[in-house]
Amino acid sequence: MTLFELPVLLGIVVAMALLRLVRASLLVWVLAWWIGIYVFVSRGFATPVPASAQHIYLGIVTLALFAYVTSSGERIRSFVDPLVNFAGDGRYTLALVPVLLALPALAAYREYVNAKVPVEPPFFARTVHPSPPTEITVHDQKIDMLGGDNPLRHLEKDDPAKFAEHVARGKDIYYEQCFFCHADALGGDGMYAHGLNPAPANFIDQGVLPSFQETFFFWRIAKGGPGMPDEGAPGDSAMPEWERFLSNEQMWEVVLFLYDHTGYRPRAREVHAEGH
Ligand code: HEC
Repeated sequence: MTLFELPVLLGIVVAMALLRLVRASLLVWVLAWWIGIYVFVSRGFATPVPASAQHIYLGIVTLALFAYVTSSGERIRSFVDPLVNFAGDGRYTLALVPVLLALPALAAYREYVNAKVPVEPPFFARTVHPSPPTEITVHDQKIDMLGGDNPLRHLEKDDPAKFAEHVARGKDIYYEQCFFCHADALGGDGMYAHGLNPAPANFIDQGVLPSFQETFFFWRIAKGGPGMPDEGAPGDSAMPEWERFLSNEQMWEVVLFLYDHTGYRPRAREVHAEGH
């Protein structure tokens, strides 16, 4: 591993040697030292020097050069005279114009470059649908996530009138508790939604209700954002833990409502759990 970028160092040394050969004036030397050290600090190291350290170092170099130039009247004169000649001599007036224009243009360009850095929110990888635990406990009841089912689902065939009652209660719960965030039409864009990150789930989205079993949504409703496993991090979404406010039956009812209202069917249960 090399510490320095050798071609850069070599370039600086050669440039200095050339200036020596042509007996450059003090003004040119001061500029050459400053630029040479700037190039050395910003490009000369194999491992880049932090910008803050570069700034401090160049500040010190500027002071040192200033001290050197002002250390005698003769040096001051040989530094300032070419500048005064350049500015005062009629022959150089044309050359002066681009210099005067270039200074504010450089400052403006620097501002432009600094302002152009794109503003992007920090990126967090978040699994929207992490795999649930195999079993959860809600209100002292154990629920098997793979083999379990919505205990009200069988009524759809066995007692449609009773089923419709549960769906209607689920609907009431939804429009009392959930629509603020998940919206009237279940699109996830409720009146509180714009302030929330992650955003509330959109139940119209085909990737949500049909892709999971009802136990999955029961789990998400009961345990909310705080109940998300680590892979769902940052788990603390605004989704409340509804087990603190609703009974198990109410939560199963609201799941029924979500499917009924959207017309989606839950994903089939795992086969090995059938037949009990
Ligand atoms: C304060 C706003 C808020 C309220 C009120 C709210 N939710 Fe949520 N909900 C969210 C947010 C935000 C998410 C997405 C983040 C997450 O998954 O934790 C979410 C996610 C969900 C999910 C997970 C969907 C999926 O794709 O995994 C379900 C199910 C859900 N909510 C149902 C409900 C139900 C039912 C109610 C009412 C009883 C409700 N929510 C009330 C904010 C809310």
